[in-house]
Amino acid sequence: MAKAKTQFVCSDCGADYSKWQGQCTECKAWNTLQEFREAKGAVARQPDFNNTDTQRSGFTGSRSQLQKLSDVNLEEEIRIRTGMGEFDRVLGGGLVSGSVVLIGGHPGAGKSTLLLQTLCHLARQLSVLYVSGEESVQQIALRAKRLSLPMDDLAILAETSVESITRTAQEHRPRVLVIDSIQVMHAPDIESAPGSVSQVRESAAWLTRFAKQTGTVLVIVGHVTKDGSLAGPKVLEHMIDASVMLESSGDSRFRTLRAIKNRFGAVNELGVFAMLDVGLKEVKNPSSIFLNKSTEQSPGSIVTVVWEGTRPLLIELQALVDGANMGHPRRVAVGLDTNRLSMILAILNRHGGVFTGDQDVFLNVVGGVRVTETSADLATLLAVLSSLRDRPLPRDWVVFGELGLNGELRPVPNGQERIIEAAKHGFRKAIIPKANQPKKPIDGMAVVGATRLDEVLEALR
Ligand code: TYD
Ligand code: MG
Repeated sequence: MAKAKTQFVCSDCGADYSKWQGQCTECKAWNTLQEFREAKGAVARQPDFNNTDTQRSGFTGSRSQLQKLSDVNLEEEIRIRTGMGEFDRVLGGGLVSGSVVLIGGHPGAGKSTLLLQTLCHLARQLSVLYVSGEESVQQIALRAKRLSLPMDDLAILAETSVESITRTAQEHRPRVLVIDSIQVMHAPDIESAPGSVSQVRESAAWLTRFAKQTGTVLVIVGHVTKDGSLAGPKVLEHMIDASVMLESSGDSRFRTLRAIKNRFGAVNELGVFAMLDVGLKEVKNPSSIFLNKSTEQSPGSIVTVVWEGTRPLLIELQALVDGANMGHPRRVAVGLDTNRLSMILAILNRHGGVFTGDQDVFLNVVGGVRVTETSADLATLLAVLSSLRDRPLPRDWVVFGELGLNGELRPVPNGQERIIEAAKHGFRKAIIPKANQPKKPIDGMAVVGATRLDEVLEALR
C-alpha cells in the first residue's frame, strides 16, 4: 500500500512545505505550519494519463467535455437574490449559480443567524439545504421559531461527513447548499481531527467539486480564531469564488459584512446589519450610525465621506494629540493605517508648519469602521490640528481629499456623490479638492475647493 505522504501547510496562507519550519516563507507568519496528511489511497488513485479510460466520473456522472468559449451558455449566470438587500449588494447582486461563497467571522458574529434567515426566505421559492454540524436540528428549529421565520419549506440536516452530505444533496438537488461550519466537517480517508488544515482543505475541496459539477450555490461558514488552533479560512481562499466577512464593529450591536474577494462583483462593498432580539436586520442608511449623535463641538473630531464599494459612507475621525512625556512619541491609529498617519504628520510639519514630533498622536475611526481610502487624508490632518490647537471645527462641516507629499490636495473619485450624501445628512459646508467641485451648486451646501494644503489652513484661520 502506498505510504501516506506528510506535508506541512501554513494555516494562514496555505503554502505547502515538505519539512516543518518555524516561519512561513510566503506570508512570514510564525508558528503557523501544521502537519497535513494526504489521504492514504491518494497516491494509488492518481490517474494514468496514457490510458484514456481512467477518467473518474464526477458527481453528475458524466465526463467534462471540451467546449468553445463562444459556445458556453451564458444565461446560466443567473443571480439568486437572497432577499436581504445588504447581503445581495456585498455579493455583487446575489448568489451566482455554481459559485462557492465563504462567510467568515468570529464565533458569535451572527453567521448562522444570517444564513438561517436568508435560507428560510429562499426556501419559499427554490429548493435549499441547510447543513449544520454545530447545532442539532432542534436547536435550529428553536431559533427559527424564536425569530418568527417561515419554517415550512426549509430542509435541514445535522451532519458532519461531507461524503454523506453530498450524497443527500445529490438526492435532494438543492439550488443553494449551506455548510455550517467547515471547521467541523470531515472528509473520507483523512485521519486528522476536524478543524485541522488537512480536514478543512479536503472537505472544502470535496464540497467545491460537488458545487461546480452540479451548479449548486455553496455557502461555507468558516470561523476565524485569533490563535491558530483552528485552520483559518485563509487556506480556502484560492478555492472559492467569493469571501465575505461578518464583523462586529467594536462591541456594538452593529455588524458589517464586507467582501474580501469576489469573482462576480466589486470588493470592499460594505453591508451593515444590526443584531436585535429578532435576529439580524438590515441597516439601510449606515451613514447615520457611524456619526457621533451629540451636537456639541469637540476638538479633534471631524466628519469625512469615504467610498465603500458602490456608495458613500459618512464617518467620524477623532484625534487626540497630547504632549509625549518620554522619549519616542507614539502614533496610534485605530481603523486607519499607522504609516499613513505618520506621512500626514510629516506633510503637516513640512507644508503646514505645524510640528508634532514632541506629541503623542492617537487617531480613531468611530464605530469600528476600517478606512482603506486615501480620501480620509485631509480629515486626518485637520482632526490632528484641531486637537493640537484645542479648536473644534463646526459640526456641520465635512472634509475629504487626498494629500500629496508636496502639500497638494488631490481629487478623489465620486466627489459629487460624496457631497450629496453629506448634504442629505444635514452638513452645510464642505472643504474638498478643487477638482472635485461640483459643476452645479448643491442645495444647502457651501463648497470650498482648494488645490493646496496652505489654502485649506488659510480658510480655517
Ligand atoms: P450566531 O449566528 O450563532 O453566530 P455564529 O454562527 O457567527 O457563531 O449568533 C450568535 C450571537 O448572536 C449570540 O451572541 C447571540 C446573538 N443573537 C442575538 O442577539 N439575537 C438573535 O436573535 C440571535 C439569533 C442571536
Ligand atoms: Mg454558528
